[in-house]
This record gives sequence, C-alpha cells and structure tokens, in this order.
Amino acid sequence: MIILDNISKTYRQSRGDETTAVRNVSLRIDTGEVFGLIGYSGAGKSTLLRCINLLERPSAGSVIVDGVDLTRLSKRELNQKRRKIGMIFQHFHLLSSATVAENIAFPLRLAKMPAAQVRARVAEMLQLVGLTGYERQYPSQLSGGQKQRVAIARALAAEPSVLLCDEATSALDPETTKSILSLLKDINHQLGLTIVMVTHQMEVVRDICDRVAVMTEGAIVESGRVLDVLLKPSHDVTKRLFQIHQAPLSPTVPSAATRVVEIAFTGATAHDPILAEVAQSTGCTFSILRGTIDTVKDVPFGQLTVAWFGEKTVVDAAIQRLEQAGFILLKEQITDILPQATEVTVSC
Ligand SMILES: Nc1ncnc2c1ncn2[C@@H]1O[C@H](COP(=O)(O)OP(=O)(O)OP(=O)(O)O)[C@@H](O)[C@H]1O
Ligand SMILES: [Mg+2]
Repeated sequence: MIILDNISKTYRQSRGDETTAVRNVSLRIDTGEVFGLIGYSGAGKSTLLRCINLLERPSAGSVIVDGVDLTRLSKRELNQKRRKIGMIFQHFHLLSSATVAENIAFPLRLAKMPAAQVRARVAEMLQLVGLTGYERQYPSQLSGGQKQRVAIARALAAEPSVLLCDEATSALDPETTKSILSLLKDINHQLGLTIVMVTHQMEVVRDICDRVAVMTEGAIVESGRVLDVLLKPSHDVTKRLFQIHQAPLSPTVPSAATRVVEIAFTGATAHDPILAEVAQSTGCTFSILRGTIDTVKDVPFGQLTVAWFGEKTVVDAAIQRLEQAGFILLKEQITDILPQATEVTVSC
C-alpha cells in the first residue's frame, strides 16, 4: 500500500542552517497492516509520516501510495489522492466554531458531495465511532476521547485506504487511550484500512501494531514484527523504548541459585503449567524473582526471571526442556546478580 523509497527531508532555515529530519528511509507497508513508527522526541517520526501524504515534500526519494508515485502528481491530482489518505493528530485539529456533524462533513463538502449523501455519510461515521446523538455538539463540549472520535470520523468520511495517526493517543488518559486504540483496531478489521501510527508509547505499539520501525536521528535503526522486536531488540534505542530488560534485579536474589535466567513465553505456552512440570520431571526447584504478563496485539506475552536450584546438569536439562516447550531464553542473568550477602572491603 505504501512504499517509501530512500526518503530524506532537509529543512533549510533562512540563515542557511540545515536540519536533516529524515535520512534515507526506505519502508514498505502492506495493505491492511497496522504499522508503528516509534522513537524519542525529535527522531523525525512526524516528518516521515507527513511525507506519506506529502504534507512535507521529501528533499529526495519517492513516495508510492497504492501504486501511484505522489511526488510526480500535479497539485490537483495530489489533492484528489490525498482524500484517500486520512490523518489524525495529537490535538485533534477540529474546527471549534463548527458542530460535530459539520466537522465530519467538511471534507465531503470540499469534495462537492450532494447534501443528502453528506448527511447519510455523517450519520454512518458517527455510528462507526460511537457518537450518534452528538451531531449538534461543539468540540468544546466534548472530552478529549470524544474529540479524537470526531477526528477519526472526519478522517474516514471520504473512505480513505490509509489512515495516518500522529501521536493520536498522547493527549489522552490511559483508559481513553485504550478505547481509541480499540476503535482503531475495529476499524482496521472492519474496513481493512492500512494504519500508520506514530507514537512514543510502547503500549500503543504492543496493543495495535503488526510491525514496528524504530527511528532515531532521522533514520530507521530497527524494524520487524512487534513480537520479534520485543523479544530480540538489537538497537539501544529500542531497548530503552521497550524497557523490558532494564529493571535491575532485586538485591535479594538467592545466592544458592545454580542459574538465573530471563525467559519469555507467548501464545499457547502462556497458559500451560510448563515451569512446574519441568521442575517436577527433572527434580530441580525454582523461584520466580520477577515477571510480567501482557498481550501483544491480543496474544499473551510474558517475561519471567527465574532462579533455578539443583545440580548444574539437572538445571541445564530443565532449561533445555523449557526451550523445547517453546520458551525463549532471553538472557542469562548470572552476571547481573547482586548476591544476598556480599562482603566488601574498602581500603584507602
Ligand atoms: N518545519 C520545520 N523546520 C525546521 N526544522 C524542523 C521542522 N519540522 C521539524 N523539524 C526538525 O526536524 C527534526 C525532527 O522533527 P519531528 O517533528 O519530525 O520529530 P518527532 O520524532 O515527530 O518528534 P516529537 O516526538 O517531539 O513529535 C527535529 O530536529 C525538528 O526540530
Ligand atoms: Mg512528532
């Protein structure tokens, strides 16, 4: 659906200074996919996103959406093509002096749709975003979540094939964020819409994205299926953003442990009593030092740090069994351990 081929964007200031916001980015986003662009502030995410509908014209490279190279279109052709690319923003960008219905109708009126069709389409959109009955309200009378729903309805009114979201949930509280993400997920399923989500929130990527690209200093430094990137983040920025192996172990790690490992499990293995079975069958014991269980796009995903006790060969066999059962050995934690009792002598 979207092919970015070697995109760069350099801003030239009046004094002759230059900022390169995007450097040589190539990306391919498939039809019906939810694709996340994650990175810290200033990484170039918004600039790259705005290159997709040419709100920013790239300094180099081509942008192909649905088979058409946007950089080669005339102004009129580009305006037409843009109607098929909806966009939503962190601060909603609604017309404050217009009602909810007028806001949603705005792009349809621009496209000169007959009034009766506009009314029908507005009603359909309101139903889609769960705001039927709100047509006469003004944006100032709505909560943040409701405003974003109006923005989504407006973005989808012209039946786009792509929806670009720039930090669409960053101004919302966690519960409202969840409800907006769930709405976007439903829309993605129902309409087969391709969604590109710019965010700095890991939970957005985890909740809704199929694939993710990590940006820093204008470049994409890592990309892949969300679960793969979560399990094996290779770039430092990814590790920092995902914060999964970062928390220090508790200082009360049992010093008698033979091995302490960090393991991950996903999908089917999440619900089976595999740890207990492995311990029982091999004859060793274990203690869970820390753990989390979450979902990645509705698939259970968990991480545990486990201390194993027993003969080294028996513990090795137990961990091997876990791997055979589908657990992923993320990290041997032995080097991270702060032993229970450490004597330190300091001489000056
Ligand atoms: N119109 C502009 N003129 C000059 N420089 C710009 C312009 N827009 C963005 N930049 C610069 O480009 C770089 C990338 O900015 P961009 O807004 O794309 O980052 P971002 O990843 O979206 O950040 P944030 O998470 O804070 O929104 C920054 O250094 C920024 O200062
Ligand atoms: Mg931004």
